[in-house]
Amino acid sequence: MKKTINHIAQKKKTGYPITMVTAYDFPTAQVLDEAGVDSVLVGDSVGTNCLGYKSEREVTMDDMAHHTSAVCRAVRNAFVVADLPYRGADSAEDALTNAKRLTECGADCVKLEGWGEKADIVRRLAENGFTVCAHIGYNPQQHNRPQLFGKDAGQAAELFDGAKTLCDAGATLIVLEMLPNNLSRKISAALPIPTIGIGSGNACDGQVLVVNDLLGMSRRLFKHVRRFANQREKMFEAFKDYIDAVKSREFPGEDHSWK
Ligand code: KIV
Repeated sequence: MKKTINHIAQKKKTGYPITMVTAYDFPTAQVLDEAGVDSVLVGDSVGTNCLGYKSEREVTMDDMAHHTSAVCRAVRNAFVVADLPYRGADSAEDALTNAKRLTECGADCVKLEGWGEKADIVRRLAENGFTVCAHIGYNPQQHNRPQLFGKDAGQAAELFDGAKTLCDAGATLIVLEMLPNNLSRKISAALPIPTIGIGSGNACDGQVLVVNDLLGMSRRLFKHVRRFANQREKMFEAFKDYIDAVKSREFPGEDHSWK
């Protein structure tokens, strides 16, 4: 059954952790959905993980629409969140136009980066019927390199207040990226909406990982990531085996040919 924002919100109320993973293409989204993930995020991390871009800032609305459509063609049950790309929510008008486009591609919710300063945009989106996921802490569209935010009391208070402001403005979900455990615990306890953590400890209401990191497709290994597979090595082995089999004329054999 298709999961709605109410299903996700209910999980917070009943204390069941929410699972979210990024996906950018049809087959990955299909497998994730079949595995029973609660939510699939078409993140702007598509740029660095799939498209060979150097930064999330290179990702365009056309990229997001293309990948959101592919994911939505695959997903039957999971709640699909799609990112508004860099500069895609600079004004309320841009945010509304881009949110409409992603929703038409099949997204159930749009995510935008920004701390409390994005509250007015979140409000306009929510007033116009969009389901909105906020995203605070490390914001790849703004910050040059991954780092922990909220280590000192001043910044921790700014993040805490920002989270409350975004929630009051109408966000129904919020990603907390790279915050210290005690801060994400405090925010998760204070907000009525689910918090989804990445690099923010296990007190969040749910967790999200970038699929390439989770599968071991990325060369880099961040502290917050556990590789649940070594897909890069497995793919390499499979490609080598195929190349060798063709070169030696061992493939295609009788089984794969017609007489
Ligand atoms: O784009 C993305 O993958 C994200 C997650 C890291 C939360 O925003």
